[in-house]
Amino acid sequence: MLVLPVLTYDPLDPATVNNPYPALAALREQAPVSWHDGMSSWLVTRYDDCTAVLRDHTSFARDRRRTGQTVPEASLSVQSLDPPHQAGVRSLFMNALHAQDLPGLEARARERAVGLLREAADRPSFDVMAEFAAPLSLSVVCDLLGVDEPPLTEFAATSDAIMRSMDGGLDPALVEPGRQAREELTALVESWFAHTGRPGGLLAYVRAGLPTGADETEGMFIRNTARVMFQGGYSTMTAALGNALHTLTECPGAQDRLRRDPRVVPWAAEELVRFDGPVQGTSRTATRDTTIAGIPIPAGDPVVLLFAAANRDPARFPAPDQLLLERRDNRHLGYGWGTHSCIGTRSAQACVRAALDALRTHPVPLRSAGTARRQPSATMRTFTALPATLHP
Ligand code: HEM
Repeated sequence: MLVLPVLTYDPLDPATVNNPYPALAALREQAPVSWHDGMSSWLVTRYDDCTAVLRDHTSFARDRRRTGQTVPEASLSVQSLDPPHQAGVRSLFMNALHAQDLPGLEARARERAVGLLREAADRPSFDVMAEFAAPLSLSVVCDLLGVDEPPLTEFAATSDAIMRSMDGGLDPALVEPGRQAREELTALVESWFAHTGRPGGLLAYVRAGLPTGADETEGMFIRNTARVMFQGGYSTMTAALGNALHTLTECPGAQDRLRRDPRVVPWAAEELVRFDGPVQGTSRTATRDTTIAGIPIPAGDPVVLLFAAANRDPARFPAPDQLLLERRDNRHLGYGWGTHSCIGTRSAQACVRAALDALRTHPVPLRSAGTARRQPSATMRTFTALPATLHP
């Protein structure tokens, strides 16, 4: 195996957790496809290389069973299957999403965001994550699925355990709490499938669209996918809103630009996800001996595609380290790419737009009110605390 320089990239190093972009730029420039001992994976950092891997399902599997590994049943969902087996469940959910009233969802999300900001403005300072991003995300995801909101505090703890278990490769102690949390959430989703769901909501649509004679395995894929949409959608949305609002408080002039012109909102919603998106990357496994950008990749080797690095690749994005709220040519990888790209993209975009619109019309701009704390994680870029104020 050809082993290239690893540099000193450590995703959990506090300085990197705080700002990963200099380390990712160094990797992209000096060793764009490189083996990382700590992560036992190849790291891919250039935009074109990431999309080339994501296009090539034959050589790079998402479904680890294709390379002889076992995947627990609870993890089998749209996320872990590959085409052609993934197609049925993915299109069932995509069709259910297309049937939803997204402008209505966006309007309700905006109303909720306006209310949350108003409540927050009554206090000298507030935590953007706990008091804005999390409740707004939970409302939007439950609205989309057509289910009643579970109590936020309990659900947030369960979701957090699942999210943290994604770093189980780096810290095995996170695996078991994640498994238990997944079990709890599976029970909740099973109960929704059994007897709840607003007529016309996504879950009711999926239930009605279940192929006649669907076997137990197919039913399990579908229920697991509903769980992923619910928990993954909530946690990613929460992280995305926190990152976006933090960026807006940090980049001089950004909020002024938004406040001056509402037409900027849809472009800004994309640019904020490119600039500091929540999903740092994704993984695949080589199904055969192959190459990436001329580097030999042996069959069975894991490959991590670092979206966060690709989204700042100067070969794809001019002035990549600048936040340009009106950036137009912006096909970033913040929502992934190809057959595993985010199913919830359109609803997530609607929620980010709703939050930005609520913020831009709030009488007072958002300002930082203390030290923000990042979650130490190699997979999900998010905050555990983000103090801010809306006081004049
Ligand atoms: C701004 C918020 C969001 C961002 C940035 C985001 C980002 C992503 C990304 C990058 C992926 C691909 C991961 C990979 O290739 O491994 C993904 C997958 C997925 N997302 Fe999202 N997401 C967001 C919100 C949502 C929401 C609200 C939902 C559901 C309501 C959702 C449901 C899903 C599902 C089900 C997948 C798996 C798709 C598949 O593997 O076929 N996401 N998301």
